[in-house]
Amino acid sequence: MIDIKLPNHVGIIMDGNGRWAKAHKLPRVLGHNAGMESMKKIVKATSGMGIKYLTVYAFSTENWKRSTEEVSGIFKLIVKYVNMELKELDENNVHINIMGEYDMLPKESVEAIDKMLRTLEKNDGLIFNIALNYGGRDEILKSVKTLYKECIREGKDIDLLTEEDISRYLYSGTANLDIPDPDLIIRTSGEERMSNFLTWQSAYSELIFTETLWPDFSEDEYRKLLEAFSQRKRRFGGRNEGDK
Ligand code: IPE
Ligand code: IPE
Ligand code: MG
Repeated sequence: MIDIKLPNHVGIIMDGNGRWAKAHKLPRVLGHNAGMESMKKIVKATSGMGIKYLTVYAFSTENWKRSTEEVSGIFKLIVKYVNMELKELDENNVHINIMGEYDMLPKESVEAIDKMLRTLEKNDGLIFNIALNYGGRDEILKSVKTLYKECIREGKDIDLLTEEDISRYLYSGTANLDIPDPDLIIRTSGEERMSNFLTWQSAYSELIFTETLWPDFSEDEYRKLLEAFSQRKRRFGGRNEGDK
């Protein structure tokens, strides 16, 4: 445990695997492999610090635009991750939740994911959300469609819908894990944009961008960014005591 006010929910846009591979004169897939190693360390650190929710951006709805070789390489890594990490994730009481439609992934990846979800289902430590084939706009659209159908079916008045109704049908709502909005979102690799990550949920998140490429992101830097987060003054549109 570190002696600062920790966020309850951290989101991470794990970016820079391709540039890391290029810098090391390696194929892009090996960059993703190095990124997976980095993710393993950060999951362990997050769970060890007692942070309750972690959401990582692993594959976006836009990442299908990449070469078949790269996309299938990423999906193979999921199988590798499950084979390598499942036992330890279970020992650490980690619960995994997938945000995104993963049924269109290759069969072996879907099977590995299902096995992982089943094995960790009963765990109630860190809630580790993996945004996989995830898009923030796609998620909002799905929620609106479900609500529209619900209104028709149950004769509900559309004018009475609230923000909570939309939240309820986002992946963060349908998981039934009380997933709060992320307090902090970290993006590595120097890019300063959201790229369709948690579009609805990030309305009041604190954002931290670091130049470090994801495979080089260390536990030490993670702790420094958490410390920086703890110094931020969050107002949510209101006023803090003592504000001038
Ligand atoms: C992030 O790294 C991982 C995924 C998007 C799957 P990138 O592959 O985007 O790395 P860069 O941005 O090309 O360096
Ligand atoms: C965002 O990174 C998606 C993931 C990290 C999985 P990208 O590399 O796909 O984002 P852009 O294209 O630079 O915005
Ligand atoms: Mg990128």
